[in-house]
Amino acid sequence: MRRPLIAANWKMHMTLADAGELAQSVVEGCRAVRDVDIILAPPFTALARVRKEVSDSSIGLGAQDLYWEEKGAFTGEVSPGMLKDAGCDYVIVAHSERRQLFGETDKSANRKVIAALTNDLMPILCVGETDAERDRGVTYVVVDRQVKEALKDVAEAQLDKLVVAYEPIWAIGTGRTATPAQAEEVHQSIRGQLAKLFSADAADKVRILYGGSVKPDNVDDLMAEADIDGALVGGASLKTESFNRICGFQRRT
Ligand code: 13P
Repeated sequence: MRRPLIAANWKMHMTLADAGELAQSVVEGCRAVRDVDIILAPPFTALARVRKEVSDSSIGLGAQDLYWEEKGAFTGEVSPGMLKDAGCDYVIVAHSERRQLFGETDKSANRKVIAALTNDLMPILCVGETDAERDRGVTYVVVDRQVKEALKDVAEAQLDKLVVAYEPIWAIGTGRTATPAQAEEVHQSIRGQLAKLFSADAADKVRILYGGSVKPDNVDDLMAEADIDGALVGGASLKTESFNRICGFQRRT
């Protein structure tokens, strides 16, 4: 069985004071949540602050991006070793905002996934189609390509450290959540693609998160789907009540 994972992507939000306060209230509010991995991914500037708040809890720390080189003249970038040093266990890779606004490609996603894995960080690889791509009926072509290219030269043995997040771009920050059935179809296809590229056994172990307008009122239905193993939450992760409710999603049997 795959252990559910709920990840908060705070994006470019939170002062140090806000970050500390929110992390503390998530720690308190989620104490009773069992058998779910919860992680907070604040901006780089707040990693140390959030680490302090979560250090005595089961809540993990993630970064929102990394660069693949270990050190050097790369102004503005942050290395995998620096993230480990800051206490990160996870790192989000190739979020659609990075692809759309900052020119990230499948090739850079691949380098980042490999850099994360070789430095003992669990990458959360983001994939997903645009509205226009869904309308043109090429969702699976796009997502298959993104998965395949990002995982080039990754070894099957590394797959148990990989997390994939399916985030249809049309659902991000729009309030237009994919229906559970729409998301499940794509999740199944991603798992099928992983089975083809590696093995069915390895594919079975990879957690595939859904992201895109996940809210307290849709998380239970999404999590009821067999191949939806968690959520990558943007807007609703910025408020304690909504994020804690998402982490405490109701399981259906
Ligand atoms: P929203 O939850 O705000 O739609 O953002 C999703 C997302 O991009 C998480 O990485």
